[in-house]
Amino acid sequence: MSMLSRRQFVQGGSVVAAMLLAGCGSSSSGADASSAPADGEYKLVNEGKLTCISNLFFPPFESMNEASGEPEGFDIDVSKELAKHMGLEINWLPSQDFDTLVPTIKQGGKADIAIAGMTITDARKAEVDMSEPYVDSNQSIVVKSGSTETAETLDDASKTIAVQGGTTGADWADENLPNATKKRLSTIIDAMSGCQSGLYDAVVCDLPVSSYQIKESYTDLQIIEEIPTGEQYGIAISKDNPGLTAAVNAALAEMEEDGTMAAIEMEWFGSEI
Ligand code: ARG
Repeated sequence: MSMLSRRQFVQGGSVVAAMLLAGCGSSSSGADASSAPADGEYKLVNEGKLTCISNLFFPPFESMNEASGEPEGFDIDVSKELAKHMGLEINWLPSQDFDTLVPTIKQGGKADIAIAGMTITDARKAEVDMSEPYVDSNQSIVVKSGSTETAETLDDASKTIAVQGGTTGADWADENLPNATKKRLSTIIDAMSGCQSGLYDAVVCDLPVSSYQIKESYTDLQIIEEIPTGEQYGIAISKDNPGLTAAVNAALAEMEEDGTMAAIEMEWFGSEI
């Protein structure tokens, strides 16, 4: 079956209508594969499924549960509830590098959404659509416990700052620690482990992730600076699929209303964030 013919065109401006139609199976609206979906409709790469991509090394937002081999975390729960509110099944693809997520969504054909603790930025909005924000975030600088480093002492060529490539943390370090040596890694876990073992002098990464990681796993690391960048996370969707962005936004709004989002925040952060 060709990719195009498997695309599903879901009708309806309301989530209820989308759920009813999705329940009926594939499109019977006569939409041929070459025509663009009409207002309020959206296409999916796999019929009846919300297919998601992420970089699955960003706890507590996303990580792989070693025991079950399944992804888990805040964003995973959000994706499952999104799918449920949209009357779809959930379909998670294997982890990929963070900086390939926006290009993959832009190119189309592989996944419907990227949900990855992804900050809404103008640069990303030029490439893909971003949903309404669903989490607020900031940056942080992490060093070994007992270290006397400060943002000032770290801004030196002899100091190595580990970041995840393609992230807003990497951008922040480039702009604000211009003299330091930057090490771009493919996951923030590599950055934290390397800082722990003394390979890197500091890590710059999203504050909710560094605080969670220090509490859960890296108890010998500490945050020396919280940086109020005022970031907001959104879900990336192709610009060719505005109906899907609308449906995701509608489902997110319902999840705020019906307490689903608050429950997911309690589950992963022990409080509403
Ligand atoms: N919020 C940061 C950004 O958007 C970091 C996101 C990293 N996410 C991940 N799943 N590794 O650039």
